[in-house]
Amino acid sequence: MSDLIKNSIRAIHDYPKAGIVFRDITPLLADGAAFKATIDAFVQRYSDKNLTKIVGMEARGFIFGTALAYALGIGFVPLRKPGKLPSKTLSQSYALEYGEDALEMHVDALSADDHVLVIDDLLATGGTVLAAIKLIKQTDASVEECAFVITLKDLPGAQRLQEASIPYYTLCEF
Ligand code: PRP
Ligand code: ADE
Repeated sequence: MSDLIKNSIRAIHDYPKAGIVFRDITPLLADGAAFKATIDAFVQRYSDKNLTKIVGMEARGFIFGTALAYALGIGFVPLRKPGKLPSKTLSQSYALEYGEDALEMHVDALSADDHVLVIDDLLATGGTVLAAIKLIKQTDASVEECAFVITLKDLPGAQRLQEASIPYYTLCEF
């Protein structure tokens, strides 16, 4: 199962900057068996966890997060890049492997009753997911776990989550 997923991820060297090995998930998405295996693996882990919401980060977190939310029959909350959400937002800036960005969430997207899974395609420095967690914590919702298709082992994301005592799960590592 995880070989099917891992083997369907392509390495693109020097994108978007010299020295970066970009892990491209588009071949995984184009392969029905690999995409289904990816979502099925998440469903297997999270179907009995009493989650109430999936939170996914723009843009690639939307792909896996919405498929999983549909499969679990629970809601999806999009965290978007600045200026894209129409109502009142919370905002959090962060640094990543190849630049800086910010994420926003509607202030009323979550409540203290929510049990949340945060999902994204890839964990690298952890800047994105830690920004997401800061946003979610402002709503008093609880973050049950963070899930990724890919973790980059040479970057500090997994360790930063461990230091913050946030459980995390990944389907494959590079
Ligand atoms: C990528 C990836 C993660 C993030 C991981 O998104 O999809 O969200 O970087 O990196 P980090 O752990 O160092 O924060 P990117 O910001 O490139 O945006 P995109 O999904 O819109 O392409
Ligand atoms: N996001 C951050 N680092 C990345 C990488 N090396 N490949 C794909 N997405 C990324």
